[in-house]
Amino acid sequence: MKDNWLSLETQTPDSLNALLDLAESLKAQLQAGGNEPLLRGKALAMLFMKPSLRTRVSFEMGMEQLGGHALYLSPDEVGLGKRESVADVARVLSRFVDGIMARVFAHDDVVELAKWASIPVINGLSDYNHPCQGLTDLLTIREKLGYLKGVSLAYVGDGNNMTHTLMYAAALTGMRLTIATPPCYEPLQNVVARALELAKQYDTGATITVTRDCTAAVYGAQVLYTDTWTSMGQEEEEEERLKVFPPYQINAELLSKAAPDAKVMHCLPAHRGQEITDEIADGADSWLFDQAENRLHAQKAILVTLLKD
Ligand code: CP
Ligand code: NVA
Repeated sequence: MKDNWLSLETQTPDSLNALLDLAESLKAQLQAGGNEPLLRGKALAMLFMKPSLRTRVSFEMGMEQLGGHALYLSPDEVGLGKRESVADVARVLSRFVDGIMARVFAHDDVVELAKWASIPVINGLSDYNHPCQGLTDLLTIREKLGYLKGVSLAYVGDGNNMTHTLMYAAALTGMRLTIATPPCYEPLQNVVARALELAKQYDTGATITVTRDCTAAVYGAQVLYTDTWTSMGQEEEEEERLKVFPPYQINAELLSKAAPDAKVMHCLPAHRGQEITDEIADGADSWLFDQAENRLHAQKAILVTLLKD
């Protein structure tokens, strides 16, 4: 039966570990001269309802490095749910290609695509979560620190799709995640509850705490994480958000409250001077560009797992 990649919450600690091991070996293989053409003859349709740099380029290069082909479909071309119903797009693409990667506004759209497609569907970002980035972040932390269980991770900023993703990532790997957001910008309460349930179900030892206090959240943290204060699709709220979020900036002062050798992550694109300062984004403690590179390696593991015969 076909599998999809819509949210980390459907993974298990073992399935995530297997993907991370595969990503690590595909990365080593690429660096040693090139990947085997594991996806020769396979095609991926990449359906974008929002802009992208990393997701588009890493999926396209990933397919190429694995011997396959990727097809970019821009927001104006397909008109998902407008020019044509989501169900019809899913059924038509299923006749032409072997997988769909979709970046959408409403998460229901990827769920609907997956329902109607006879081929695997990968969520390349929805308003609910960003599981490709989540796997990448786990790969990056594991690669840098050598382990995941017990890592103390502090997320500072908007309680958004990345926050949800990191909660599931922490729950399944046993990280200790503290989230600091301003009032009214907390992550969804049902996602917090679901993540805590997963941690309990798999007995991973993960903890998830939500607070308003950035200093308390980052105290002793090994890794600090942030994301934009205004996600794609929320542009009309930007002015309002800019009044509330400035205390939730990752800067030198906040970093000094974390563990002595704490590192900084950001899924990018960064709004420098807002959620992160240049000094930190470009400083010695930044993992930002290694993290961005790992999109390629993490997603190749997803592609091989879902599309290989
Ligand atoms: N992090 C991320 O998904 O980047 P893009 O929006 O550029 O794809
Ligand atoms: N939260 C951001 C992530 C971008 C990769 C957004 O949804 O725009």
